[in-house]
Amino acid sequence: MGELAAEKHVQYILSAERRKDDFVSVVLEHLRMNGAYWGLTTLDLLGKLDTVDVYEVVSCVMKCQHESGGFGGNIGHDPHVLYTLSAVQVLALFDKLNVLDIDKVTNYIAGLQNEDGSFSGDIWGEVDTRFSYIAICCLSILHRLNKINVEKAVSYILSCKNLEGGFGCTPGGESHAGQIFCCVGALAITGSLHHIDKDLLGWWLCEWQVKSGVLNGRPEKLPDVCCSWWVLSSLIMIDRVHWINKEKLVEFILDCQDMENGGISDRQDDAVDVYHTYFGVAGLSLLEYLGLKATDPTYALPVDVVSRNFLGS
Ligand code: FPP
Ligand code: ZN
Repeated sequence: MGELAAEKHVQYILSAERRKDDFVSVVLEHLRMNGAYWGLTTLDLLGKLDTVDVYEVVSCVMKCQHESGGFGGNIGHDPHVLYTLSAVQVLALFDKLNVLDIDKVTNYIAGLQNEDGSFSGDIWGEVDTRFSYIAICCLSILHRLNKINVEKAVSYILSCKNLEGGFGCTPGGESHAGQIFCCVGALAITGSLHHIDKDLLGWWLCEWQVKSGVLNGRPEKLPDVCCSWWVLSSLIMIDRVHWINKEKLVEFILDCQDMENGGISDRQDDAVDVYHTYFGVAGLSLLEYLGLKATDPTYALPVDVVSRNFLGS
C-alpha cells in the first residue's frame, strides 16, 4: 500500500489557491468560496494552515458578503447558503468568527426557512435537504439554532426518508449518499438521531462498498473518493462504521493520489482536483490515518476547530 504524499498535497493546494487565471480557475470562479473551504481545511488536517496569510483570507471572505447577510461564491456574486456555510467554516478554521455580524448572517439563513420546515438555498427558492443541513450546521456554529423552527426542520427532513432507511433531496427523492450525510448530520446536530433506524440505514450504506474497497454514492454509480466521505461520515454518526472494511478504503484513497504533483482524484488515473483532495484527506482522517488531525464527521471540520468554537446551540 502507498503512503500519503502529504507534502505534495500541501504544495498542490497552495498552488491551486494562487492560480487565478488558468482555465480551471476561470471555470470554477463561482466556486471560489467552496474551493477555499476544501483547500484550507485540507491544509489544516495536514497541519499546515499556518502557511497561509490569515488576514488575506479573512478579508477575501468578507468581501464576498452581500448586504442581505449571505455570502456569494466570489466577490460580486449572488449570495447562497452553499457559500455562506463555506465562509463560516473558513472563518471558524482561523478562529475568526468574531469578524461576523452574527445577527445579519442568522437573519439571512433563518429567512430562508419555509412554512413546511424545509429551507431554500437562496431567494430563488430551490428546496433541498442539503440546504436544511447547511442552515442547521451554520446556525449551530453561530449558536443561533433558536432562531429557526427546529421541530419543523427535523420533521421536513424525516419526510424525505425512504423505505430502505436512506434520504433524498425532497420527499420521495432517490436516496443518495450526499443527501444521507446532510440529513443524518442535521439530525445529529439537533439531537434527533433516535428517528433513524441505524441498522437499516447502516446496512444500506455498507452495501455500497464494492470489491475494490471503495464506496459509491448510489446504485450503479462508479466508485468515488468523495462518496466514500459521505458514506463514511454517515456510518460514523450512526455508529456503524465497523461494518465496512476500513483498510481497503484507505488503500483505494491512497491509490487515487497524484504522487508526482500532489492532489487526489475521484478514482484512480483521473485528473486531481481540490474537491476530491479534500474529501480524500478528510476520509483518511476519519479512518484515523496516522499524522492527520482528526475530523468531525458532522461538521466536516477538524475536531479541534469544532470543540473550540461550537459549544452549544
Ligand atoms: C453530491 O455528490 C453531494 C451531495 C448531494 C451532498 C452535498 C452536501 C453539501 C453541499 C453540504 C455541505 C457539505 C460539507 C462537506 C460541509 P455528487 O455530485 O458526486 O453526486 P452525484 O454525482 O451522484 O449527483
Ligand atoms: Zn466525486
